[in-house]
Amino acid sequence: MTILDQTTDLALSVAMREGSMAEHQAAEDSSFMSELLGGKVNERGYADYLLRLRVVYATMEEIVAAHRDDAAVAAVADTALERLAAIDADLDHWVADGDRTVDSPAAEAYRQRLLAAAAEWPTLMVAHHYTRYLGDLSGGQAIGRILDRTFELDGAGIAFYDFPEIPKPKIYKDGYRARLDALGLSAEEQERVVTEVKTAFQLNQALFVELGQNLEAYAR
Ligand code: HEM
Repeated sequence: MTILDQTTDLALSVAMREGSMAEHQAAEDSSFMSELLGGKVNERGYADYLLRLRVVYATMEEIVAAHRDDAAVAAVADTALERLAAIDADLDHWVADGDRTVDSPAAEAYRQRLLAAAAEWPTLMVAHHYTRYLGDLSGGQAIGRILDRTFELDGAGIAFYDFPEIPKPKIYKDGYRARLDALGLSAEEQERVVTEVKTAFQLNQALFVELGQNLEAYAR
């Protein structure tokens, strides 16, 4: 059985979720994530994470805005999801000197893949969009609550996890998946998108690996 046979009889949203389950588990199990959620990463560690995410979201949001003429991009694009302003507001809390630059090969590789994917076929952006925003609306919600408790933030510095225009993430995610499933991609197109979801997860994993190399400096 080829990979094509395995996933193309599934709805696109199901193929994306099922096709990335192993990668999702790996992200959950990464040492940086588990230390962060265990309250063992300090402010600098979280700021370094946010600085990397800033590169990713700035690039992705610019590309999405530029490709709204692509039917698939238009089906998922929504300014209510955009995170760049929230990340910048959060960085004001976490980084005292206002420096937004970061020396991160993993973030740079992620940025390069976003640019290359958009140039190759704008519909691939859907894979990146799904991986980040549906994650933010899922596990991300729990992560935000844990950070709030761990650092006793009382809501400060965690705007990233707050979607004021999306009061009910579950309902929003159902609608998002329905829009994906209505795209009517061919079997081959669907397979390309699912493969790109895996790539997106791996790029996120690489961010965690990079941050994980600094855990000693981030100890709290
Ligand atoms: C410790 C870290 C993480 C935890 C605890 C976690 C937890 C979860 C949970 C519980 C769900 C299911 C929510 C639901 O049924 O609606 C979910 C979904 C999801 N997560 Fe994560 N997650 C983590 C990390 C990540 C990362 C790093 C990414 C990607 C960057 C990610 C991307 C996603 C996506 C795309 C979904 C939606 C799956 C779908 O319904 O199609 N998650 N996560």
